[in-house]
Amino acid sequence: MEIRPQDGKKLGVVVSGFDAKTSSDEDVELVKKSVYSDKIVVLKNQHMGPQEFLELGRRFGEPETYYQPMYHHPEVPEIFVSSNVVENGKRVGVPQTGKFWHSDYSFMPLPFALTFIYPQVVPKKNRGTYFIDMGKAYEKLPEDLKSAMAGTRARHSVRRYFKIRPSDVYRPLAEVIAEMEEETPDVFHPTVVTHPVTGEEILYISAAVVQDLIDADDRPLEDGLLQQLLAQTGQFDTTFEHENIHLQTFEEGDLLIWDNRSLIHRALHTAQPEPAVSFRVTVQDGRRW
Ligand SMILES: [Fe+2]
Repeated sequence: MEIRPQDGKKLGVVVSGFDAKTSSDEDVELVKKSVYSDKIVVLKNQHMGPQEFLELGRRFGEPETYYQPMYHHPEVPEIFVSSNVVENGKRVGVPQTGKFWHSDYSFMPLPFALTFIYPQVVPKKNRGTYFIDMGKAYEKLPEDLKSAMAGTRARHSVRRYFKIRPSDVYRPLAEVIAEMEEETPDVFHPTVVTHPVTGEEILYISAAVVQDLIDADDRPLEDGLLQQLLAQTGQFDTTFEHENIHLQTFEEGDLLIWDNRSLIHRALHTAQPEPAVSFRVTVQDGRRW
């Protein structure tokens, strides 16, 4: 097994010679260490079925199944399917997922530790996912912004990107919203969290999910601090040329693992999407901030 930095990239390493079925526990441990220190790991030349993909995730942590069944792989529900491909008139998974800055499951009390993405149908052009390292982004902020957010918490809500499910057709919208609020009430995370493995401080906010910041007395901050932080970290840059933004591309056989605590990400979709399918496994690592 060989681990080397990604050529000319701000973050991430490339791993060759890793075999999901035969690799030793030591190799898995090395790869896992790299995910925490380098944030993104690209495993090259992977060939495995859905069940094996899940087993790979299990070697790194405890897989967690997505709360909404419409995303589940038909045979392996722990796999979340993002797909715009319709086969024999049947849709599997959900199209156009994650086209907004977010961290997976941040709207839940315990977000995933690690995300694994295994593309199945790779688009010819416009393939990839944008990332921002919110540890590095935090470090670069001016001191006055850092002190302004000290002691604050962020309200994370699913409401902005909650997707209408096939079973919601003909239902009153108010009923769907009430159900959403019952199932996934807003959660509050510290605006700056400490990574439980690396000890790094991370600005844990994303444009899609965070509604507002609240002070120590639970009062919303009304000074535009949240918008300022989102802008400074690059989340409002529609050109994606902000220095914090990293575009992670991939080719067939690549399997991506990333640190879901310190990175936010955003899918790259275009107006005329090409066929794209990817499988996702998400795991907990037994740690929390
Ligand atoms: Fe995501």
